[in-house]
Amino acid sequence: MKSSAKPLSKNPHLIQWVNKMAALLKPDAIHWVDGSQKEYDALCAQMVAAGTFIRLNQKKWPGCHLARSDAGDVARVEDRTFICSLSKDAAGPTNNWVNPFEMRKTLKGKFNGCMKGRTMYVLPYSMGPVGSPMSQIGVQLTDSPYVVVNMRIMARIGKKIFELIDKDFKRVVPCVHSVGAPLKPGQQDVPWPCNPDKYIVHFPETREIWSYGSGYGGNALLGKKCFALRIASAMARDEGWMAEHMLILGVENPQGKKTYVAAAFPSACGKTNFAMLIPPAHFQQQGWKVWTVGDDIAWIKPGADGRLYAINPEAGFFGVAPGTGNHTNPNAMKALAKNTIFTNVALTDDGGVWWEGMTEQPPEHAIDWQGQEWTPALSREKGIKAAHANSRFTAPASQCPTIDPDWEKPEGVPISAFIFGGRRATTLPLVFQAFNWSSGVYLGATMGSEMTAAAAGTIGKVRRDPMAMLPFCGYNMGDYFRHWVNMQRGLSETPRVFHVNWFRKDQDGKFMWPGFSENMRVLKWIVDRCRSGGRAMETPIGWVPRHKDIDWSGMDFPKEKFEELQAFDRAAWRAEVIGQEELFFDLHATMPKELLFERELLICRMS
Ligand code: OXD
Ligand code: MN
Repeated sequence: MKSSAKPLSKNPHLIQWVNKMAALLKPDAIHWVDGSQKEYDALCAQMVAAGTFIRLNQKKWPGCHLARSDAGDVARVEDRTFICSLSKDAAGPTNNWVNPFEMRKTLKGKFNGCMKGRTMYVLPYSMGPVGSPMSQIGVQLTDSPYVVVNMRIMARIGKKIFELIDKDFKRVVPCVHSVGAPLKPGQQDVPWPCNPDKYIVHFPETREIWSYGSGYGGNALLGKKCFALRIASAMARDEGWMAEHMLILGVENPQGKKTYVAAAFPSACGKTNFAMLIPPAHFQQQGWKVWTVGDDIAWIKPGADGRLYAINPEAGFFGVAPGTGNHTNPNAMKALAKNTIFTNVALTDDGGVWWEGMTEQPPEHAIDWQGQEWTPALSREKGIKAAHANSRFTAPASQCPTIDPDWEKPEGVPISAFIFGGRRATTLPLVFQAFNWSSGVYLGATMGSEMTAAAAGTIGKVRRDPMAMLPFCGYNMGDYFRHWVNMQRGLSETPRVFHVNWFRKDQDGKFMWPGFSENMRVLKWIVDRCRSGGRAMETPIGWVPRHKDIDWSGMDFPKEKFEELQAFDRAAWRAEVIGQEELFFDLHATMPKELLFERELLICRMS
């Protein structure tokens, strides 16, 4: 394809920055991204020719492509992710910090000439609906066409964003991204260029992002984790709003009234499934519906009426493929049925895709995510997976059957509840409600999740992941808690705060709660608590539903079993509260007093 060196923006600052960066990066060509379908199709065709993309069977998977990444570039790299604030304290002990002056020197060396032999794409994007007062704009320079086409699904990109930059002169977050693999003249490219030396760098004060060496997911699609969480969390602290690692969903009752909630869960806890929940048949017959606004990130701001309003800054789902199937999440399956980019899943003999958990019956033969022959026998005998555990689908949110009619409302949707959750085999009941805002902030700050089988030797170990933001907060976590505490002060209606745990196990190690659709019963209790004061009982940890407070229509869940699921185990909670201590040690310098007092109150109530 012919690259257009002609700027699509008239903004002199933007043009000057692009020229300055081009002088450093030294690409062979510059392409200003217009965001059109024609451009998208041409980039996909170019990647098919280069071996980066495989065009899937267009009858079965219209508009879909498959990419296989380098085996060393398959996930976010937290240990190579840096928050380079001016002071180390501003980044806090939970972030990797490097002196920004030193880091700039390092980056200058790395980025010098890194785009040789490649095209530099100038990719303007809006996080949030175009023109929404809650949206923010970024411009990403990248040498990866894979990133451009993924960003077209995940964000609003192209000409309309250049027009905004020209017209409103809004502040733009500059993002520089390179796969770090310059080509010598005549050198043959590889399907997935990348560099083993990776740097995912954020400068929170100057609101800049520099990413080097990776073409994958959150390392490279800079609007997502880098901008919408790390940089946005710093902006939000300064400007009085919140950037959170939360899904947003709306629960519609039979009277047609909607209640929106936002929920934070660490990875691998079923966030996308929860965002697309299908109520059990009985609830559906009564007229209950769940609407999806977003599955990963929420930007939340006080409205003029003193309530909190949230937008989903993204336009697509970058979902984990394994475990997603018609039996677990039919809405996600419909969302990804067309116009989707799959990365690191298996290719079936009929030109389709497959991953573990997509269907109960695996295909008899496939090509695995590394391009090797795969059969179910290989999986049984050698444990070889067809799809990588972190394989992904990039699908347009608009294709989700339950996408909320208001999902792009510029002012956002009103949030009535925050839900925190984790994967906990013991101690944490199915659901409970915090007593008030500060005990809710304590709940979120101390939340944890058991690590999954991915990391050998650590299975079952609880990792504290405050508000599911540990890898995504762009500043000191203690200051972040302070910001949470303060947010309530200007509100006339404070969202209620809840904790859920779908993963409690019985003494035989079996899950006690079926999850999925049945989570609607918990959601209904939460909504009842927010709307009409649904019933509950006070315990040392908060308000809990009794068996009679939950709607069991169409489900037989005995009272004794529910009581076991909800049980408050004093000895286990003692260990839990002692386990939370680590966080207080690490963040003692910045931990807000309110949380210290909440901890004391909890201990008093328990003893
Ligand atoms: C994600 C993550 O990709 O949280 O959403 O890692
Ligand atoms: Mn996420």
